Amino acid sequence: MKDTLSPTEILNEVDWEICDEILSLKAQKNAVILAHYYQEPIIQDLADFVGDSLDLSRRAADTNADIIVFAGVHFMAETAKILSPDKKVLIPDLNASCSLAESCSLTEFEKFVKENPGHTIVSYINSSAEIKAKSDFICTSSNAIRVIESIPADERILFLPDKNLGEYLIRKTGRPMTLWDGACSVHEAFSIDKILRLHQKHPKAKFIAHPESERHILKIADFIGSTSSLINFVKMDNSTEYIVATEAGILHQMQKAVPDKTLIPAPAYEDNTCSCSECDFMKMNSVSKLYQCLKNETPEITIPEITRLKAIEPIQRMLALSQQRLN
Ligand code: 13P
Ligand code: SF4
Repeated sequence: MKDTLSPTEILNEVDWEICDEILSLKAQKNAVILAHYYQEPIIQDLADFVGDSLDLSRRAADTNADIIVFAGVHFMAETAKILSPDKKVLIPDLNASCSLAESCSLTEFEKFVKENPGHTIVSYINSSAEIKAKSDFICTSSNAIRVIESIPADERILFLPDKNLGEYLIRKTGRPMTLWDGACSVHEAFSIDKILRLHQKHPKAKFIAHPESERHILKIADFIGSTSSLINFVKMDNSTEYIVATEAGILHQMQKAVPDKTLIPAPAYEDNTCSCSECDFMKMNSVSKLYQCLKNETPEITIPEITRLKAIEPIQRMLALSQQRLN
């Protein structure tokens, strides 16, 4: 049996009746579907908006819909609920977590903060609502440099939970920071040897990477950025071939944006079958779970109001800083 399906086989596998049902339920219930770039292609195509963590939180804050169906992972849906408490926020699979968010429990976080008193706490958006509630700033990969640079030079910084993004930020901003020892299981799996070998076969390809990747991977990258920035880069750049080091789901929107360019997923260590890296958490969502979720209006994201009110402050600080960048 084959390990992978061709695009035509994938289209034949899609249950178009369920897709139609999803679209009519969405209209009936005044729901909006927000999807991250790492969702499977058909979910991205059913969504009203596809984006990176920052874009999606902005959309969640601005929507007029009564229901937000968040096709992404738990911390993203929680952020939507924090910003839009009056909306019903649903997620197709409540177990769609994130290795970074899971690496940082509230108890361990409190211990870390106690061991490092007097610091400004900057948490990556890939963390739980409880952690956000105890942070001074939240950042995403697209605004992290700006967030760090906004903090007065005499303040000491604790950055969590991604040590790879943290080390990248130290290199970019020159700010020393104490880092939590967490990493993304997908971005940590890229193999430098395999990437270099692939590059020998495609010497004209540019290598682009998400900043959650390890230092030795970022060192050889021609461009580093959030998922949205990676897509914008291939759109604006004049090369025709790219090796892409982030979750393979991004290739769907990227290829739509540059239909004539060649996009090659960066290979991972253990990956001898499909040469792509997939986030098991993101891929827990499926079209049938999306349908059930809209139909039954469950599973729903709930957050204690006291936690939400605390968590919204550092998120709003981040959104205000990102707004300044747009103006
Ligand atoms: P972006 O904010 O760049 O979309 O990243 C989210 C994420 O989880 C990357 O692994
Ligand atoms: Fe979390 Fe990594 Fe999956 Fe992104 S790709 S959601 S950081 S586990």
